[in-house]
Amino acid sequence: MTDINALLLPRGSAKGACPVEGVSEDALSALTGRLGTRQRAWLNAHGFDTAAGNHIVLPGPDGSIDRVLLGMGSGDAQPDPFKAGALCSALPPGAYTIDEVDVDHHLAALGWLLEAYRFSRYKEHKSVEAKLVTPEGVEREHVLNVARAVYLTRDLINTPASDMGPGELEDAVRSLARGHHARVEVTSGADLEENFPMIHAVGRASSGEPRLIDMTWGAGKAPKVTLVGKGVCFDTGGLDIKPSAGMLLMKKDMGGAANVLGLASMIMGAGLPVRLRVLIPAVENAISGNAFRPGDILTSRKGLSVEIGNTDAEGRLVLADALDLADEEEPDLLIDMATLTGAARVALGPDIAPVFTADDALAQSLARHSACERDPLWRLPLWDGYKTMLDSKVADTNNVGGAGFAGSITAALFLNRFVTRARSYVHFDIYGWTPSDKPARPRGGEAQGIRALFAHIREVFPPS
Ligand code: BES
Ligand code: MN
Ligand code: ZN
Repeated sequence: MTDINALLLPRGSAKGACPVEGVSEDALSALTGRLGTRQRAWLNAHGFDTAAGNHIVLPGPDGSIDRVLLGMGSGDAQPDPFKAGALCSALPPGAYTIDEVDVDHHLAALGWLLEAYRFSRYKEHKSVEAKLVTPEGVEREHVLNVARAVYLTRDLINTPASDMGPGELEDAVRSLARGHHARVEVTSGADLEENFPMIHAVGRASSGEPRLIDMTWGAGKAPKVTLVGKGVCFDTGGLDIKPSAGMLLMKKDMGGAANVLGLASMIMGAGLPVRLRVLIPAVENAISGNAFRPGDILTSRKGLSVEIGNTDAEGRLVLADALDLADEEEPDLLIDMATLTGAARVALGPDIAPVFTADDALAQSLARHSACERDPLWRLPLWDGYKTMLDSKVADTNNVGGAGFAGSITAALFLNRFVTRARSYVHFDIYGWTPSDKPARPRGGEAQGIRALFAHIREVFPPS
């Protein structure tokens, strides 16, 4: 297990740490001029080039490590701080400083910790032993708080459904709550069937009982921030079963829940002055004799009847009942996150999450924080003209749009029918997974959007 506290050394331990020095293409000849003959020969022998993210370790006269050079690329391209952070997995054990590297030091330090993540529940991994001295001006506790949350999100997603069913997801919420003195209530069984009929219908075919997990934290009078996360612990597609390639990664279909729990961990860890509520409909979309069927008509908690056009569009059903509950107390900010549609990935790929909101000011703030935090988001429209795609002849709405057009938008429009009273509402259609290693983003479960969201929430509700 990676111990992030040990990886990010306090500022006081800067003495004796090995300096990392950034070198752009233009600065290379000036630098080599300053080096002694041995180090210059070493550079030449290795053919070091300054492409962004390249690095080379320079030996001192006694054979110890003198310093590390980090390529910064050429021209005026903004250096990627995660590439500086990603150094940690390539460096020998020891303590390093990046004070002299011209990148965003906060993100580089965070990137260092995010790169060092290993999922070691089922297999030992060699842990990163290159430690970073907290750069000048960077708040160590803040970086640790964010990294801890991202680790939690990744661990939850990476854990397969055999060990992360609805019950284990509830345990995970309870354990997070315990650390922050939050309260947890869970609705299941007959209560769930009566009060959250769509959560029950989607989850009833699984031996892992469906449930609604409700966590609250903070002072009752504080502004209300409510997070709703899709907690489909495994998505077979239901009777509209997925082909094997489409099912392979579906342990990550609780990625929305994992992400809102990560965000909750940041908010509680920072002690933001809000009344936080987290709602997670936790189910498995399984196949059995009692599974819900194509053509069934469900009555939602809100009272709207929903014709099932496809049992694989299950996420919006469980979210709708949870959103309806969230909406009742008119939260100041209502956020849902869900691995909701394959169409979102077709539109924007795995790295960029579509964001849907009618609140222009919120959208602008999120866009700004998304850029600052390097947490890519992109707004898509809640296009009114596509509402009719969800029309049903026999119910108030269908759960899918007809012709396979604009799948992420029609899913967002479906959810919006269940939110009428929240002051501000935003929906994230995330992928929750990094398909192959990238700097600071190892392959596997991923946090998406929650760092930008945290920055936004911290700006609106600053810690006292
Ligand atoms: N969990 C999936 C969406 C998904 C699939 C996210 C692949 C990321 C990668 C969701 O429950 C689903 O199956 N959606 C269907 C909706 C369709 C039936 C309208 C989809 O996107 O194919
Ligand atoms: Mn599905
Ligand atoms: Zn799903």
